[in-house]
Order: sequence, then C-alpha cells, then structure tokens
Amino acid sequence: MRLRNHVVVVTGASGGIGRATAEAFARKGCAVVLAARREEALEATARQCEKHRGARTLIVPTDMTDVAAVDELARRAVQEFGRIDVWVNNAAVNAFGRFEDIPMEDFRKVLDVNVMGYVYGARAALRVMREQGTGTLVNIASIAGAVPQPYSHPYSMSKHAVRSLGSSLRQQLRVEGVKDIHVCTVLPATIDTPHFAQAANYTGHKVVAMPPVYSPERVARAVVDLVRHPRREVVVGPAGRALVRQARMAPALAERAMARQTDRAHLDHDEEAPPTHGALHVPSPGEGAVHGGWGGRRRTAIRRTAVAAALAGAAVTAGRRLTTGQARG
Ligand SMILES: NC(=O)c1ccc[n+]([C@@H]2O[C@H](COP(=O)([O-])OP(=O)(O)OC[C@H]3O[C@@H](n4cnc5c(N)ncnc54)[C@H](OP(=O)(O)O)[C@@H]3O)[C@@H](O)[C@H]2O)c1
Repeated sequence: MRLRNHVVVVTGASGGIGRATAEAFARKGCAVVLAARREEALEATARQCEKHRGARTLIVPTDMTDVAAVDELARRAVQEFGRIDVWVNNAAVNAFGRFEDIPMEDFRKVLDVNVMGYVYGARAALRVMREQGTGTLVNIASIAGAVPQPYSHPYSMSKHAVRSLGSSLRQQLRVEGVKDIHVCTVLPATIDTPHFAQAANYTGHKVVAMPPVYSPERVARAVVDLVRHPRREVVVGPAGRALVRQARMAPALAERAMARQTDRAHLDHDEEAPPTHGALHVPSPGEGAVHGGWGGRRRTAIRRTAVAAALAGAAVTAGRRLTTGQARG
C-alpha cells in the first residue's frame, strides 16, 4: 500500500517513539498531525518532519486526559486535511515505586493518560474512520502488557488494558462486518527514549532502561509496516518476543524471571533518587528528544553489524563447503 498523502495523527509526538513515528510517516510523504502537551516540543517535531519531502504538518497541543481536547484534535485534523487515515495512540506516562508508595494521584494519572487517553483517541478516530469506511488505529502498548512488572503497577495494568481495548475493538468491527478499518497493537520491549527520565519515581533509586535496549526508530518502522500490512499484535525487539513466548508457555516462570530481572536491572541500587512526580502532571520544559541516552541506536547498530558479520561468516563457510563438495563431486 502506498502511504503518500495519508493523514496520520500521532499522540505523544513531542518526543520519543511518537516523534520518531511522526518522522517515519513524514518520510513516506504523509501529512502528520502532532499532539502532546508541549507546544515548543511539537514545533521541533514539525521542523524535523518538514525536512522530509516538505511533509505537511499540523500541531495541536492536546492533553490526552481531556476528552473535549481530543475530539478537537480529530476535528482539526479533518478540517485541515479532510480525513484521518491513521491514528497512533502513543502518549503515555509511567510511575515507579512499591505498590503502597505510589501516591494515589499518580496512580490515577497513569491510568487516566494511558487508558482513558487511548479510549478518547480511539473514539475520536473511529468516528471519522467509520464515516470514511477505512482507516487504521494503532495502539502502542508494551511487553508490560503481556508480562507485568513489579515497581510499575499502574503502567502494567494500563498496558494490559490497551491490549484488551484493541482486541475488543477488533471483535466489535468484525461482528459489524467492517472490513477496512483495522486496529493493531504494538508491544515494544525496552526502547531508548526519555520515558524513564520523565517517569514518576518513588523507589528511592534511579530508574534505568532495562537492557537490551532498542531504538525508537525500530518501533516507528513497525508502526509504518502495520499500516501497510495490518496485524493484530506486533512485538518489537527479539528479547520482547522471547519474553512474550515464555509468558505464554510458562507463565509462572516468566512472572518470576521478570520480577528478578526488573529488581536487578530496572533500578540502579547504587544511586539514590528523591521522590518525584516526573512529568505526569506538568510536562518537562524544553524541545523534547527522540532518544533517552540509553544507547538504543548504537546498540542496534552494533547488533546489526554482529549479525551481518555472523551471516557473512556462515555464508563463507557454506560457500567453502559447497566448493569442496563440488570439487569432491
Ligand atoms: N520507552 C520504552 O521503553 C517503552 C517500552 C514499551 C512501550 N513504550 C510505550 O511507547 C509509547 C511512547 O513512549 P516513549 O518511550 O516515547 O515515552 P516518552 O519519551 O516519555 O514520550 C511520551 C509522550 O507522551 C506525551 N504525554 C505524556 N502525557 C501526556 C498527556 N497527558 N497528554 C498528551 N500527551 C502526553 C509526552 O509529551 P508531553 O510531555 O509534551 O505531553 C511525550 O510526547 C508509550 O505508550 C509507552 O508506554 C515505551
């Protein structure tokens, strides 16, 4: 499917995966509608997008917990570009801490942004797509929506809800015989974005990205691919795929492994951190960034080089065998 001139709404487009996704669609010649709370950071995303084939952009500062604002986002997109082909529900926040230590206002905020924000987005998008008869709704969940984690209860709960929302919406469309509106869910593993630095934190320790870390561009490519070839669910990152498989086959084992791994690798026990609401209630100032400084892009490049070298080595060995075999034959 050619994506040129598709109209794509991306929520949480002021940084991280949202910005990378908006750029990926802009590169394909799409018009992108950019939503998040920080106007200055959305402008930075728009500038990046416009570098690619002079992509058309529209900035709509939006708080995803405000249903009227989300409806207005959809209305502005249609007013400006006439339709909505793709809606990416991506804006989300996180709060780390022992269950009893996360303040209720933060617990509720995570569920509000990550669940109700997606519900508002899905309703606004589907209203437009039903009128058009076509469209793709992409919900960004997480592997935490398949294997929950300690220290981030509201986040894990929210990502299970996002998967469930996707599944029940697909069912709804199926029983109504709607064939050309697709609902897809993406489950990224750990991604190199500002997410962890923006999170609320009541663990007493610095929160770090749990390795292996993948690049946000990788998630963006998966989202673009989904629009071309819609699928129910896609896991981004081989480590995530292994974990999801394990959770399916041996759930108790996966639960124990994830508990141990999160405690060891998601918190830096050597570095103390004061309690913080992070960017839950008030966004962090600044222009935003795609990457979080966890080395996702570099590590992906290193991994790719290693895989390419291994494949090249295997090809040489296979070639030698073939030559030897032919010589013998
Ligand atoms: N990074 C990871 O390891 C990882 C792994 C799995 C899944 N994910 C998922 O991927 C998606 C993107 O995460 P990310 O890593 O790119 O995080 P991020 O860098 O923290 O970006 C989050 C985005 O959400 C926006 N946002 C937060 N609260 C909002 C609100 N109330 N209304 C509107 N926008 C709001 C932020 O912009 P403003 O502050 O300007 O509003 C920002 O653009 C999320 O759904 C996340 O759960 C991330």
